[in-house]
Amino acid sequence: MDCTVQMTDPSHSEFWNTRYAAGQNPWNCAGVPADLQAYLKRKARKPGSAHARVLIPGCGLGFEIKAFAEAGFEVTGLDFSEVAVQQARQTLGPALAGRVLVGDFFEHKFEPASFDLIYERAFICSLPPNLRVAYRDRVAALLKHGGDLTGYFYYNPPDLEAGPPYGFAWGESDELFGRHFILLKDQPVNDSLPVFAGRERWQEQRRTAYPGG
Ligand SMILES: C[S@@+](CC[C@H](N)C(=O)[O-])C[C@H]1O[C@@H](n2cnc3c(N)ncnc32)[C@H](O)[C@@H]1O
Repeated sequence: MDCTVQMTDPSHSEFWNTRYAAGQNPWNCAGVPADLQAYLKRKARKPGSAHARVLIPGCGLGFEIKAFAEAGFEVTGLDFSEVAVQQARQTLGPALAGRVLVGDFFEHKFEPASFDLIYERAFICSLPPNLRVAYRDRVAALLKHGGDLTGYFYYNPPDLEAGPPYGFAWGESDELFGRHFILLKDQPVNDSLPVFAGRERWQEQRRTAYPGG
């Protein structure tokens, strides 16, 4: 693929590298959003308890990584943009820099069913919609049965010409995730960035425990 196409195609890392390098990242909340803070308070691991493993796919600058680590999770951030990962490692500092990996979510070698939790923010909406089924199946494969897909989901029927974010139409996500997940919680988000305002939901989806499901 030639360079110009890569820079206009969000399924290619060059699209994101260019934006991080230029500091053009209107999705970056540069902190820990309120619903996640509340969730971590509820789920914080007690000292001495077994570490739950959490994956943050498409973690970008990875501001949530420190919060998950402080709440006692064994956290891994993954992003295929080398520029984002480099910036994330700098922000996190030496103690947590190793928690962020460069890699493609769809191809990175993780053991199946090796995560208790996958945290979603602004990742699925950054993917061209034709990758949504692959996202759902990958998330379902990486989670333990009974594990959770939790975080932020964007609802706004996509303008494919305009590029990301690509939102869901109402009902579309139920159809997508219903194959492997049960929606436990769904609430509006009150501290969205302008790019997502009024169209973002906090959701907690549980991976079904049915064998073969
Ligand atoms: C809109 S940004 C969101 C970043 C971060 N989650 C946040 O909330 O700030 C989307 C991120 O997904 C990453 N990404 C897109 N496709 C990816 C893939 N297949 N594998 C890994 N990362 C990917 C991009 O590099 C970018 O950092």
